[in-house]
Amino acid sequence: MNKIIKKVIKSSFLYKPIKKIYLVVSNISMRRNIKKFFSGKKNILPSGIAFEPTTKCNLNCRMCYQKQERALCNQDIKLEDVKKSFLPLKGRIKSIGLIGAEVFMRRDIFEMIHYFNTLNMSVYLATNGTLINDENIEELKNCKNVTGIGYSLDGPRDYHNFIRGQSYAYDKLLKAIELTRNNFNTTVNSVIMDDNINYLFEVANIVKDQGVKNYSLQFEMFSTKAELEESARILGIDEKDFAVELKESCTYKFDKGQLFKILNELKKISGLNILIQPNIFNIYPDEYLNGSLREKVKLYCKDMNTLRLNAQGSVILCPFIKREFGNILEQDVSEIWNSEEFINIKKKIISNNLLPICKRCCRLGKM
Ligand SMILES: C[S@@+](CC[C@H](N)C(=O)[O-])C[C@H]1O[C@@H](n2cnc3c(N)ncnc32)[C@H](O)[C@@H]1O
Ligand code: SF4
Ligand code: SF4
Repeated sequence: MNKIIKKVIKSSFLYKPIKKIYLVVSNISMRRNIKKFFSGKKNILPSGIAFEPTTKCNLNCRMCYQKQERALCNQDIKLEDVKKSFLPLKGRIKSIGLIGAEVFMRRDIFEMIHYFNTLNMSVYLATNGTLINDENIEELKNCKNVTGIGYSLDGPRDYHNFIRGQSYAYDKLLKAIELTRNNFNTTVNSVIMDDNINYLFEVANIVKDQGVKNYSLQFEMFSTKAELEESARILGIDEKDFAVELKESCTYKFDKGQLFKILNELKKISGLNILIQPNIFNIYPDEYLNGSLREKVKLYCKDMNTLRLNAQGSVILCPFIKREFGNILEQDVSEIWNSEEFINIKKKIISNNLLPICKRCCRLGKM
């Protein structure tokens, strides 16, 4: 029923105004939640969570911030442990984003999604698309609680394959899109990088030709050694607790004028909903690109009210700060969520107007 209502709203002329109102309301509620961290009151568990069911991946993307974590080869949480620890969350958690590294590397992924369905939890999947094929498409279609799939495409065939480190990446991805576009709400995501901005117009047209309406872009997230050191110092945690792509330069190499020209061209492509993240880039493009946002604008992080679990079932702060705050196999998740250590670290982030590593993050917002 919900799916039908969403479909009707999406096709209506009211879609854009409704989406705007939704964003304003959710931003207000997010800010209210952030203020609660300072009030000493118990924080209610968010109804949506992000869960990284595996650290494994079949690709080796140049920009991937998870490389270091993957090299540790930690065991992924077992399905029986996922079942045991998610059961008490029935009724409290309504939606799960399965995001990372490559969820289809888990052989039991469909069983896991079905299990979440028995708990009335909907699932959103983020994937590189290369492991969805004729053999497993029916299994995926049988997962009635999957509300959407986000695919990654960073360039036309040769460039995408080069970036993703495998010559099959592009063709398999396009096949996956073809197999799923009529059954699932599908989005394609691109990372805006120094050397792919001249391909983005071509990518947007590929997305459109594939029959996908939602095209989302986010900037490459990276950090310099100095930004990482300062972020670790502010939080009083180890640099190893971060998952960031390290670079020497603290700025993007592309020309701002060139970027704007391309983004304006993208917006003119009819029938494509373009989302550029973070939204604050649209308000303060110069400050965002030159890295001075923290000095100029009061910021918040949209992930401060997201519960995120890593592949071992530990609560972590966000995709890039991997410090563990307790494991759902050992503790009730509300207890971890409200623990002094977890709240204090969020307070440190907010009172420092976020961290140096945060300035290129897609989760940034204006307080
Ligand atoms: C870590 S991946 C996990 C999902 C899946 N493996 C994929 O690539 O789509 C989630 C998203 O992060 C993007 N990503 C990877 N490295 C990034 C970086 N350094 N900056 C911004 N986004 C990045 C990927 O392109 C993908 O869209
Ligand atoms: S496919 Fe996703 S998780 Fe795998 S290396 Fe690429 S960005 Fe990272
Ligand atoms: S803004 Fe900072 S704290 Fe928030 S998700 Fe990004 S890196 Fe993490």
